[in-house]
Amino acid sequence: MNPLLSKLQPYPFERLRQLFADVTPNPDYRPISLGIGEPRHATPDFIKQALAGSLDSGLTGYPPTGGDPQLREACAAWLKRRYDVEVSPATQILPVLGSREALFALAQTVVDSSRPDAVVVCPNPFYQIYEGAAFLAGASPHYVPSDPARNFAPRWDQVPASVWERTQLVFVCSPGNPTGAVMPLPEWQMLFELSDKHGFVIASDECYSEIYFREEAPLGGLEAALKLGRTDFKNLIMLTSLSKRSNVPGMRSGFVAGDAALIKPFLLYRTYHGSAMSPAVQTASIAAWNDEAHVVENRRLYREKFALAAPMLEKVMDVRLPDAGFYLWAGVPAQWEDDTRFARELLAQYNVTVLPGSYLAREAAGSNPGRGRVRMALVAETAECVEAAERIVKFIHSNT
Ligand SMILES: Cc1ncc(COP(=O)(O)O)c(C=O)c1O
Repeated sequence: MNPLLSKLQPYPFERLRQLFADVTPNPDYRPISLGIGEPRHATPDFIKQALAGSLDSGLTGYPPTGGDPQLREACAAWLKRRYDVEVSPATQILPVLGSREALFALAQTVVDSSRPDAVVVCPNPFYQIYEGAAFLAGASPHYVPSDPARNFAPRWDQVPASVWERTQLVFVCSPGNPTGAVMPLPEWQMLFELSDKHGFVIASDECYSEIYFREEAPLGGLEAALKLGRTDFKNLIMLTSLSKRSNVPGMRSGFVAGDAALIKPFLLYRTYHGSAMSPAVQTASIAAWNDEAHVVENRRLYREKFALAAPMLEKVMDVRLPDAGFYLWAGVPAQWEDDTRFARELLAQYNVTVLPGSYLAREAAGSNPGRGRVRMALVAETAECVEAAERIVKFIHSNT
């Protein structure tokens, strides 16, 4: 067996199952889960029809790994509309089967484990795939804590020079899961300068970019590069997907874009890995990337929900409306201290599931930046999210 497999940590939901194994939820309440970050709004009909309509012709041949030129063009046109960024559909874009597999595969492509002590830098808390991708690529993750005092910006400035020297890949998550924070231009500039100095690749995970609460749409990695005059996107790859934008997590469709010098070896890797997108999914993806109306409506639903639930929770927890994404990253009241105890008691008393923040972060330099926080995914319909917020308010009041 591959010995690196033993380094993989149990997924947060597995740990949650164990945490709740002996909890009996209060049967007076129907269960509400804010635990899993999976979109639950309806998939737009036109996407389903495009998928179904292409079944006759779409399943008879092996699709090329580079995807249909029409799909790459649709992705490039979206990048232009959304970020005013122009890329070559032929050399700077690749379709991927959702950003999860692409994040993983990118690490396998860029990390050279024959170099001593390879490091992959990632924020803390973070999306767990970054860590597993680093381990299986033969690198060690270095966790950079988010700073609650600076809208959860990762403390890139605190990474020691000796770590940057060995760093081959940096994961950026903006908008962040679980923090909802968008990385501003000066931080991009800092990372680009470090990348120029040390030669590492930046993977910018942007899958929550279309769900935002401020007027201005979140800054993208390629957009930041262009603003700073980096027209070749040197050492930069952005990853995005339709899962959250178009409510199709089951379709497994996204794309990566950026430095052509990285896209080329990534295509080679993917050819062997066997990650080609079904032509039927490609047709539905073209329809989805070309339409913006459903994205505007989807965002409206999230805005409505967050505008109702966030102010209720703000009164009892350390939480505020995030920049973007569909999570509330909430500090539990001081008397709880332990986020796992808070989650267990909330389930037992009010049948609401939240994810302990410590499960989404790692102990590093003596502390776990997720401790004392919980992640609440407001993915259910508005009424259910509001009911969950009401129960959490009652729970906190009745336990003080
Ligand atoms: C930060 C982050 N990146 C990537 C993904 C993967 O999403 P997908 O593979 O559906 O694009 C998720 C999914 O929840 C996520 O939270």
